[in-house]
Amino acid sequence: MRKMLAIGLLALFGCNSGGSGATCPTTSTLTYDNFGRQFFASYCDRCHTSREGPTLNSLAAIRANSTAIDNAAAAGPSATNTAMPEGSPQPTNAERLQLGEWLACGAR
Ligand code: HEC
Repeated sequence: MRKMLAIGLLALFGCNSGGSGATCPTTSTLTYDNFGRQFFASYCDRCHTSREGPTLNSLAAIRANSTAIDNAAAAGPSATNTAMPEGSPQPTNAERLQLGEWLACGAR
């Protein structure tokens, strides 16, 4: 019972509670041009181009909000964060992992 309560609490706070724990592999090939721009265009920009929440439609803005973005939407060894995007379409888990990696690599 106690264990189930703990899992329930984790599920409750797990959505926006911490970093994905993603790290930057030296072999990473993800860039703004081959990943970030398209990811944000597909899943984030329709709200985050000044309409709602922080503006995230430029590389500078993404870098400035990197930690919050990781906490909200990225996956890694520590967490799979799904607070964002609101609504659909939703990124695949593979895309959330890529987001974590790309941010961990400095969103280059
Ligand atoms: C349907 C609209 C919508 C979409 C799509 C959306 N967001 Fe948001 N986002 C919001 C709103 C509204 C807020 C402010 C209120 C809140 O935090 O829920 C917000 C807040 C945020 C915040 C700030 C949270 C904080 O704790 O400061 C981040 C970071 C964020 N969104 C990232 C993203 C990312 C990354 C995507 C794409 C994967 C995304 N959002 C997609 C509406 C959206």
